[in-house]
Amino acid sequence: MENLADLLRDRTQPLHTQAERTGIVRDILTGRVDRNGYALFLRNLLPAYEALEAGLSRNCDRRGIDVIAVPEIYRAGTLISDLNAIAGSTWLQSLPLLPAGERYARRVDRAADGDTARLIAHAYTRYLGDLNGGQALRRVLARSLDLEPRMLTFYDFPEIDDLKSFTADYRDAIDRAGTSAADASTVIEEAAAAFQYNIDVSIAVKAAAARQ
Ligand code: HEM
Repeated sequence: MENLADLLRDRTQPLHTQAERTGIVRDILTGRVDRNGYALFLRNLLPAYEALEAGLSRNCDRRGIDVIAVPEIYRAGTLISDLNAIAGSTWLQSLPLLPAGERYARRVDRAADGDTARLIAHAYTRYLGDLNGGQALRRVLARSLDLEPRMLTFYDFPEIDDLKSFTADYRDAIDRAGTSAADASTVIEEAAAAFQYNIDVSIAVKAAAARQ
């Protein structure tokens, strides 16, 4: 069998293209987002990261999850920190959690139940995305929204010395996690779903930001 990470990339490649070209992600990438829209996006990703990181931590002694439960890449803390810096400490009241954000988090939460193999798909989708495309996003955001470094900690990995080699290692870890998953196709289809949830959040945040 081809490696799991390669299979995941092949399956999600068209969805990746779609994700880049849709909703608030597209606006961020093209420098057309305002601070409120960006903060609303972070707020609606937060519950999915919290579910992912709680799920990884809870299952970190299971074979497969052990290699991908790496606290140095956990992002929930940085999201909260950026939200406080950008939107002020009242963000929980001022920025709504949209149904799409809630649905994404619930899906991740459910993936942490049972044999937990589907958690691999969610770790792949968010963390390899953050480690790869995140750095390009950081540059665009710093410029277009004039954000200070303390507002962009989501893109910082201070405990990781060499981001490039860490990213390659994490991709290998996804492969190793896959060898203990009973059924690769379950993981692959969960990754496709994870991309779709991300696209849905991106569209919903764009629409909600336009209404505010
Ligand atoms: C904002 C626009 C985005 C940009 C500019 C971007 C850019 C990139 C780049 C340059 C790579 C490396 C490609 C490679 O090594 O072949 C990558 C990989 C990846 N991206 Fe994105 N990305 C974006 C959005 C997203 C989104 C929204 C997701 C999903 C939530 C995502 C998930 C991933 C994943 C999972 C990978 C790893 C592919 C692999 O190595 O298997 N990206 N991205």
